[in-house]
Amino acid sequence: DWVMGDYIAEAVDAIQRQVGDEEVILGLSGGVDSSVAAALIHKAIGDQLTCVFVDHGLLRLNEGDMVMEMFARNLGVKVIRVDAVDAFMGKLAGVSDPEQKRKIIGKEFVEVFQAESKKLSAAKWLAQGTIYPDVIESAGKGKKGAHTIKSHHNVGGLPEDMHLKLLEPLRELFKDEVRELGVALGLPREMVYRHPFPGPGLGVRILGEVKREAATLLQRADAIFIDELRATHATERDVASGACAAADVGKSWYDLTSQAFAVFLPVKSVGVMGDGRTYENVVALRAVVTSDFMTAHWAHLPYELLGRVSNRIINEVRGLNRVVYDVSGKPPATIEWE
Ligand code: XMP
Repeated sequence: DWVMGDYIAEAVDAIQRQVGDEEVILGLSGGVDSSVAAALIHKAIGDQLTCVFVDHGLLRLNEGDMVMEMFARNLGVKVIRVDAVDAFMGKLAGVSDPEQKRKIIGKEFVEVFQAESKKLSAAKWLAQGTIYPDVIESAGKGKKGAHTIKSHHNVGGLPEDMHLKLLEPLRELFKDEVRELGVALGLPREMVYRHPFPGPGLGVRILGEVKREAATLLQRADAIFIDELRATHATERDVASGACAAADVGKSWYDLTSQAFAVFLPVKSVGVMGDGRTYENVVALRAVVTSDFMTAHWAHLPYELLGRVSNRIINEVRGLNRVVYDVSGKPPATIEWE
């Protein structure tokens, strides 16, 4: 619409005036904010922008490929993909404490990003997808305690000798505005309206020690869950059973939930397949409805949907033989399991 068109023209102009002919680097995480910042800055300065995408192996299924497809292929953005899976897995070996895992992932992320940034010695600017609520949050720092949201995405502590100036074109926008801007810039709606994904990624959804094999199983189970949520739309029957309101009929269960994901439990249970006995891992499904993520209700997903997800996971993902659904509210449970 014209309002957003005007906004984009102004923002592009402001970025061009600010940056001039200097080079900019940006850490692309796959999340909405850094993606929209990248698209906007690329529109303004094209090849003066280089994005660095750190793949730590704890992202959603095929996320790295999708980021490259969207930015490098479709939008023509310069993106350096850093395969840091071995480095992250190495640092996480033997660590099972959730906060320790968060610290390690955050620290490693900064180190990998810095090492890559140093190679781009011409860069004078560091661009970040900081949005207005982040500005408020860091002003009242420590509000969320151990869950300092996005702490490792705000690539703090770049080496002094890099002397990078900060470029934060989304600083004055609320999340909804960032999403509208993303769509107006040509990013796929489906990507821009995705559920939030924690910075440490699957690192806090693989309970206990993080192992590569668990990440692979979890990515596949999670993708099946998300697929089915997107493909299943609320019906009158769901209204009758109290699962949703009349106004929700026709909406997808993905849109009717605020966040949904699978969790890998380091527990094996016995199953039976054909004539044989299996002894494999369990995944938990978590889906919540919330307006602020400070409190949340578990989502009353239709039984048929849960049944389909369970069947598909058990049939399609060898190594998982049991699926359970989390029916805990927040409080007392948190949304993530770690
Ligand atoms: P909890 O589990 O605290 O989650 O109820 C509330 C929201 O915060 C997200 N979350 C995180 N996001 N880094 C992040 O960037 C983290 O360490 C982290 N821990 C939780 C969680 O996904 C939910 O949206």
